[in-house]
Amino acid sequence: MIDLRSDTVTWPTDEMRRVMAEAVVGDDVYGEDPTVNRLEALGAQKMGKEAALFVPSGTMSNLVALLAHTRPGEEILVGAEAHVYYYEVGGLARVAGVLPRLVDDRDGVFTAEAFKAVLRTPNLHFPETRLFCLENTHNRGGGTITNVEQMQEIYELARELHLAVHLDGARIFNAAVAAGRPAADFARYADSVSFCLSKGLSAPVGSLLAGGREFVQRARKARKVVGGGMRQAGVLAAAGIVALEKMVDRLAEDHANARRLAVGLAEIPGIKIDLARVQTNIVSYELAPTLTEEEFLARLNAKGVLAGSPGPHRIRMVANRMVSSEDIETALQAIRVVMAA
Ligand SMILES: Cc1ncc(COP(=O)(O)O)c(C=O)c1O
Repeated sequence: MIDLRSDTVTWPTDEMRRVMAEAVVGDDVYGEDPTVNRLEALGAQKMGKEAALFVPSGTMSNLVALLAHTRPGEEILVGAEAHVYYYEVGGLARVAGVLPRLVDDRDGVFTAEAFKAVLRTPNLHFPETRLFCLENTHNRGGGTITNVEQMQEIYELARELHLAVHLDGARIFNAAVAAGRPAADFARYADSVSFCLSKGLSAPVGSLLAGGREFVQRARKARKVVGGGMRQAGVLAAAGIVALEKMVDRLAEDHANARRLAVGLAEIPGIKIDLARVQTNIVSYELAPTLTEEEFLARLNAKGVLAGSPGPHRIRMVANRMVSSEDIETALQAIRVVMAA
């Protein structure tokens, strides 16, 4: 099978498996796992932050960030298409008890104007606004990048308003590699940043939440609330260290494969794709109205290619380490056959 459903399908590398077997561990809830401590220090350093916290998933990382930044009943400004709003089972409302006010991110990019458009002047009737939430790269947008200058503008707006900024940077290293800049250049314009080790970076499990020391202390407590305190988590952290040290630069290969795929798709009748949106490892496109996404995915599956759908008549494919450039050619051929039928 050529699995293009997500970059989360990547298996750990041989080196990851080896360091996992050999990891020095301790009880991380007591702060005694040296491998977790090393991963957290490395993650903080990569983001240019004081501290970081190892969490089991990107979803928990975002949730814990909300719990650490806000109190129940407060308002957060979040993208209408953002993962934290769209795909996290309403955890923001159900667990953190915050009210989302939606920002227009339909182009897969965040702008200060979009935040300004939904800001309200303080009023007796309104909840307290506490936080701006960004996502970079933007998953539903198709792996699109909010550039550093746009992030800076949003951050400066938040500062003027005395609000905090959280960045869901599940794929921040994809943005960094594509832009040819360190991830810290993006993270600089957020008070907290969540990033995943288990997506394109190929670790089996885990995300990190980075920020100021005090914020991370609150996040550590919030992680305990949601049952995310892990014990000998060094076996997982060991793979995370390899992810951060060895797997970032190779994301460029995924980006090249995504581009190869997108350029091929653009030539297939019945497929509509905006090539300008293919900036990293995600390729999102539209099918002719006569073909449903279910039919397309089933026919493609029968030809040995797996993909996903973010909505009606839409298909998403994600280049990842398990898929070679030859596989991309094979997948394109399968799509041509399906579309011609
Ligand atoms: C932008 C974004 N944020 C958060 C997550 C959640 O990560 P996890 O699947 O590890 O919970 C994802 C997962 O795809 C994502 O794309």
